[in-house]
Amino acid sequence: MINTNYQKLPGSYLFSTIAKKVKEYQGQHPDKEIIRLGIGDVTQPIAPSIIAAMHQAVDEMGDAATFRGYAPDLGYDFLRETIAKQDYQARGCQIAADEIFVSDGAKSDSGNIQEIFAENIRIAVCDPVYPVYVDSNVMAGRCGTYDEKTGMWSDVIYMPCTRENQFVPAFPKEVPDLIYLCLPNNPSGTTIPKSALQDWVDYANRNGAVIIYDAAYEAYITESNVAHSIYECEGARTCAIEIRSFSKNAGFTGVRLGFTVVPKDLKRDGVALHGMWARRHGTKFNGAPYIIQRAGEAVYSTEGQKEIKEQIAYYMRNAATIKKGLLDAGYEVYGGVNAPYIWLKTPGQMTSWAFFDALLEKAAVVGTPGSGFGPSGEGYFRLTAFGSYENTQKALERIRTTPLS
Ligand code: MLT
Repeated sequence: MINTNYQKLPGSYLFSTIAKKVKEYQGQHPDKEIIRLGIGDVTQPIAPSIIAAMHQAVDEMGDAATFRGYAPDLGYDFLRETIAKQDYQARGCQIAADEIFVSDGAKSDSGNIQEIFAENIRIAVCDPVYPVYVDSNVMAGRCGTYDEKTGMWSDVIYMPCTRENQFVPAFPKEVPDLIYLCLPNNPSGTTIPKSALQDWVDYANRNGAVIIYDAAYEAYITESNVAHSIYECEGARTCAIEIRSFSKNAGFTGVRLGFTVVPKDLKRDGVALHGMWARRHGTKFNGAPYIIQRAGEAVYSTEGQKEIKEQIAYYMRNAATIKKGLLDAGYEVYGGVNAPYIWLKTPGQMTSWAFFDALLEKAAVVGTPGSGFGPSGEGYFRLTAFGSYENTQKALERIRTTPLS
């Protein structure tokens, strides 16, 4: 009767587990001021010009002349056209408005996209990586069995990313059908130059693989040799699907908006994936709310761009503060240059969860255990730069002055 694949999933979703632990701790220590640098949730309010666009859209919904009911299931043209122009064509990428599918966020899309692929395909993931990719494939019965000892699924191809390879995945020994790449990477905060991304595109085209390119953190790229979109690479239209979010660049974690790009040239078994994703979207999704899509459009206005760049700079100042503070305190630290995540090696031989517990119990600071992102994340820990500057400084001071190992 039930989908028994769900029974195979160990524990609860990573960030749900953390939230539960933090709630328990707060319950036991009601006076403690907990600083949350765990889940990558933004803290800055949505920028004024975006809020103004939302207000206007709200007013339109209250007037019979401008009221809108169901949104077009693939997204309003005004938003799709703006995205195509500003995120893609302005960077020289050949992406058209009707190749953009607007959704309620990158998490849903990255969890749902596996549905258009066969049950028996092999997936490859960077290890560590955002847990949604593996978990959603487990639910679909694609990952085999879980080994408690190694933390690995028998049918998943893991591409370890550790300090030994500068957190850069190597081509796997077995050829996968579907390759998930999250760049800049969540959780390690590291990324690869455009030339290396081009190698992945060439590899996928050579082998008939499809790349799911999660570019949720592209707004945080500071280095000029890093691609903002996989479609900056030659040949990506025939092998790559790109997922984007408004959560991290414009603070939409609470309002929900994202999009997925499926180029019409991307075909497998003679079938265009564009048509399949359109079919799936049309059947299972009723379109992101008009008000939120107008807010998304405002992100691309001159004022919106100026305001979100200021927010991104604010978070990146946090990233630099965390990185410097940890380095000064003797930690081994990665990331934080092209991403709002700092990835640190836990001191001594501490496991990721032991460090999580020590940090919470002794310093009342929440982070994310690296092992939650995959077995190669064991012995690492992630801190987010999305807190307020004041809390970030306070957390650093606590980490610096509290013996944790
Ligand atoms: C994270 O903390 O990894 C992200 O915020 C999770 C997400 O974007 O769903």
